[in-house]
Amino acid sequence: MPTLLRRRRTVVVDPSEDRRFWVFGGRRHLAAMPYPLPKDTGEINRLDFQHFLLRTGFRGNYAAPLDHPRDILDVGCGSGRWAMELAAHFPQAHVVGLDVVPPPADDSRTLGNGLDQRPPNYTFTPGNVLEGLPFPDNSFDFVHQRLLITAIPAERWPAVIRELARVTRPGGWVELAECGVPEHAGPGLTGLWGTWIELCAKRNVDFTMGHTIGQLLSDGGLAHVQRHHLYFPMGAWGGHVGRMSATDCLAVGQALRAGVTAAGILPPADYDKLYALTQTELSAPKGHGILPFYLAYGQRAL
Ligand SMILES: C[S@@+](CC[C@H](N)C(=O)[O-])C[C@H]1O[C@@H](n2cnc3c(N)ncnc32)[C@H](O)[C@@H]1O
Repeated sequence: MPTLLRRRRTVVVDPSEDRRFWVFGGRRHLAAMPYPLPKDTGEINRLDFQHFLLRTGFRGNYAAPLDHPRDILDVGCGSGRWAMELAAHFPQAHVVGLDVVPPPADDSRTLGNGLDQRPPNYTFTPGNVLEGLPFPDNSFDFVHQRLLITAIPAERWPAVIRELARVTRPGGWVELAECGVPEHAGPGLTGLWGTWIELCAKRNVDFTMGHTIGQLLSDGGLAHVQRHHLYFPMGAWGGHVGRMSATDCLAVGQALRAGVTAAGILPPADYDKLYALTQTELSAPKGHGILPFYLAYGQRAL
């Protein structure tokens, strides 16, 4: 609750408090949303890092057969990095990044990694995909949504897909990308990831349903659905990508610690033991944990 400061007869809402967020475990989180990850500068940096990992692993930013798109939407755009790169790649297009809250304003600072400044054909729009998208029907040629698996309760997915399809023009494409559950991982990573699955389940979110995105698109009436399935090595044994995915995974482990322990899934000391074991596993030169990633796209019927 915001603090009310009484000065003479005027009631002032303390501007340092923002009802969209609540802070626990030293990290700022979205209030009243299923999404369990923090929403702060540290997390924006992790999302950028993860974006570079995914772009490397997938050898590009998208897979759908785009043909001179005019309007592109990125739902749950996070740092805005994907959307800004698409704007730079398609200078004729207008690219909209949508998220519940905007990424930090960075117009005046260098964005690095091939983007010196925010592209002029990129804009941010606030929105909550669980409440419907703030656009008329048939607004975009390409609608992209990546890694919202922890943000969308399982039973809400069909409605979300309908909404993504609604704002896509006939002939346009909807593309989804989600992760799966680590395979062939050691007991540390398997246990740690299990606590994240449990945390999500407490919010009616199914963190194991990434493999279903192709089916969700087909069930939602999208045509010509194509699925790609990639395995990311996790750990020092997997070279550059393996080290990057290990770093990302450990950053997620730190980000979800407060949520897991506050939800009573594990006491902090037990979580820290699992985390330390995961660190050891991911730095072992002979590990073999892999993380499946699923990408699927489908076309709105003409
Ligand atoms: C794991 S991040 C992924 C960000 C980005 N798509 C990427 O791949 O880098 C999930 C994002 O979804 C946003 N989000 C969570 N719930 C949402 C909702 N209901 N509507 C729109 N965005 C949401 C979060 O704020 C966060 O930025």
